[in-house]
Amino acid sequence: MRTEHAPTIHRADYAPLAWTVARIDLHFALAPQATVVTSRLACVRNPDAAPGPIVLDGEELETLALTVDGLDPAPGTVRRTESRIEIDVADRDEVALEIVTRINPQANTALSGLYLSRGGYFTQCEAEGFRRITWFPDRPDVMARFTVTLEGDKAACPVLLSNGNLVEEGELPDGRHYARWEDPFPKPCYLFALVAADLVALERRELTASGREVLLQVWVEKGNLDRAGHAMESLVHAMRWDEETFGLELDLDRFMIVAVSDFNMGAMENKGLNIFNAKYVLAKPDTATDVDYEHIESVVAHEYFHNWTGNRVTCRDWFQLTLKEGLTVFRDQQFSADMLACAAGAEGGSSARAVKRIDDVRVLRSAQFPEDAGPMAHPIRPESYQEINNFYTATVYEKGAEVIRMLHTLLGPEGFRNGMDLYFSYHDGQAVTCDDFVNAMAEANGRDLDQFMRWYGQAGTPRLRAQGEWNGADGSYTLTLSQSTQPTPGQPDKLPLVIPVAVGLIGPDGADLPLQLEGEHQPGATTRVLELATETRQWRFTNLAAEPAPSLLRGFSAPVILELDEDDGRLAFRMAHDSDACNRWDAAQRYAERVLLQLAADAAAGRALKVPAPFIDAFGKLLRNELLDPAFRAQALALPGEAYLLERMEPADPAALRAAQLHVGAELGRVLAADWLALAESLVEPGEYRYHPADAGGRALVNLALRYLCAARVDAGVALAAARFDSATNMTDRFGALAALMHGAVPAAEAALAAFYRRYQNDTLVLDKWFALQAGAWRRDAAAAPVLAQVRELLADPAFSPSNPNKVYALLGSFFRANPGEFHLADGSGYEFWAEQVIALDAANPQVAARMARALENWRRFTPALQAAIRPQLERVLAADGLSPDVTEIVEKALAA
Ligand code: TRP
Ligand code: ZN
Repeated sequence: MRTEHAPTIHRADYAPLAWTVARIDLHFALAPQATVVTSRLACVRNPDAAPGPIVLDGEELETLALTVDGLDPAPGTVRRTESRIEIDVADRDEVALEIVTRINPQANTALSGLYLSRGGYFTQCEAEGFRRITWFPDRPDVMARFTVTLEGDKAACPVLLSNGNLVEEGELPDGRHYARWEDPFPKPCYLFALVAADLVALERRELTASGREVLLQVWVEKGNLDRAGHAMESLVHAMRWDEETFGLELDLDRFMIVAVSDFNMGAMENKGLNIFNAKYVLAKPDTATDVDYEHIESVVAHEYFHNWTGNRVTCRDWFQLTLKEGLTVFRDQQFSADMLACAAGAEGGSSARAVKRIDDVRVLRSAQFPEDAGPMAHPIRPESYQEINNFYTATVYEKGAEVIRMLHTLLGPEGFRNGMDLYFSYHDGQAVTCDDFVNAMAEANGRDLDQFMRWYGQAGTPRLRAQGEWNGADGSYTLTLSQSTQPTPGQPDKLPLVIPVAVGLIGPDGADLPLQLEGEHQPGATTRVLELATETRQWRFTNLAAEPAPSLLRGFSAPVILELDEDDGRLAFRMAHDSDACNRWDAAQRYAERVLLQLAADAAAGRALKVPAPFIDAFGKLLRNELLDPAFRAQALALPGEAYLLERMEPADPAALRAAQLHVGAELGRVLAADWLALAESLVEPGEYRYHPADAGGRALVNLALRYLCAARVDAGVALAAARFDSATNMTDRFGALAALMHGAVPAAEAALAAFYRRYQNDTLVLDKWFALQAGAWRRDAAAAPVLAQVRELLADPAFSPSNPNKVYALLGSFFRANPGEFHLADGSGYEFWAEQVIALDAANPQVAARMARALENWRRFTPALQAAIRPQLERVLAADGLSPDVTEIVEKALAA
């Protein structure tokens, strides 16, 4: 464990290294507690850098030997600290280093570097894990050609994998064997990987667009082969999509995906050897929900797409992380939308795409907006950090993808593709910056994107204020758009950004009006993209027969908060008519938000709660509209998330909000019970389960109906949920019914929960759902034991393990981050528990601990009483012995706010 205080690293301090590495030849003698790593480095002087020593990074390494050109280094030429070696080399431009280190995979609980999981060896090197394996200039602008030899026990690790091509394998004495791998592409060390474990592979051979045969493998534990098929299908779809959409082909003869049970994040794009959290690989109908299937498809695609956006062209330094992550998230979002549209066919394509877009917007609003408004707010390209692992954030990923999407909107699909082509033609094989990417886009399109670059440097969610003025005398409508961004930590002044605003005008009959801007001769399209690049600007639409209702930011065309005064009637009108599915959903969200926040204020003030009848009416109309596809209705009828609502509440009062949510949910269930029941009964899919987006939409809507019915404790609904739980043939139905019963806290819930546990007690991934459901439970009866008590009890369940990140995220993550109504207890006991758990986790795995720590970073937004209870717990964590840089950075920034 690192205990020293992490220094702050600044983007402006980037300088190339005096020496880089052209080739590395690695040898691993694998043993659980003493793996010996021999590394031969061909170091070369960097002609573009100022002269200096060879600099190597290391962490938790036991150094056994170091030679320079085969000799002990000359006295005084080597300086060594815990984490750094500097070697002076005079009068040569090439040097061969040989370094032998010993590491202890078994003691590696941080899951960064080389570690053990269920008896197998796995690596995770992004961002700075390679230095925990051997001494190396551990930064992405050092790209070397890797050769790797693995030597291990044949019985424990029959499978030995690394990046690239297998060039040799054979037997060794004492029951050991070896394999040698060569990666033909130079790569930064964060893309290095090895796996040595007892696994089996699902295999497939495919031809690439240019006719090369490639071997695809999905490696899983024995007994899980029947769950690997969907990941393989997804991989093949991703390959085809990248060929068709961007002309990008797989460049290796072999591409492997490996599932591992203990993993800090979702998955990792190591060259030719992607390593995945098992949760994003394994699926069969009995154990995975439709949503799990969707996630697997998108994560498999995401990692695959990194092969070009990340690996072939990589990042110069970690400040450029969004160069690969924002772009790759955008690519996986487009891929998923295309897959959904393709499955829905000609008729449902646009609705299916909108459903995916709505999903993405939900994530952005609930995870990224709060981040951008809190002490961790940072631009998609940060200016500084203490611990890079803390910057794998919703901002870098999701807002980063929104920034790429805006380029796509501004340049059009063809212009964007031309920019991508130019980017690869210039930078293939290089480690580059976000400027290089945007410059390629600008050059390919003959467009000045200098002001657009501000999106990379400015933190905070811009507010887009819209005002419309109708002039009945001349049939014109003047739209005024203005922008402003609140100060964020370290960034008091904000400049205007380039904001593409997709606009439509809806006529009184609900149909879109053709748009004609002042000075144009003819009305044109019904949706147009306006570009706001100054603080404020006006547009005048002419030739309108009647006053329109504006529909702004269609498709969520920019990551901003839209402020537009619309009364309840206008929101209900757009809920019923907006032709842009995303905005139609948004109208419903805005209306629901208004109702929920009003009721929360009433609850806080001790007033009676009453849901306005017009809201229920508008909601019921969507529910009964069979012209809308079920997946869209499931989105439109789901209330805004708690995290997003808390962000909109001043001050945030989780208990009051929870009271409002409970009341609104129950009322929507009670008043619309007949409709929900009719829906649930009509939408049941006949026949055997298959994962298909069209069926998934129906299942999602039925499960939502059950949820409302159980919330209202409608007898027929509860009975239906219980029956569906008992008769379910797949996890989506079974878990949906169980979740509904739990949500209603009805008597049948307890038995169902126990039955679920019995059925899946040996299935660790499914048990994560069981933990998450209980930690995320909503108490309906104030006299019942708090969920906190249940969470504490579950920590002692034999199926729980604090060393398994998935378990921690399922139990503690679901409680701290996804259940504010129960976590923020007035007596502060939730916060005490939080501090205790963060400190305990941090001693073993700082990355996981830091993620849990972030649950309280926005503590300044809460009521004064809650803040008073939170502060001492933040201070307690900060005072803990040997606190990691990861958690230190989070808590220091929170306290400084
Ligand atoms: N690059 C990975 C991705 O596809 C992210 C990742 C996986 C990661 N494991 C990690 C980042 C561990 C930091 C630490 O998005
Ligand atoms: Zn990624």
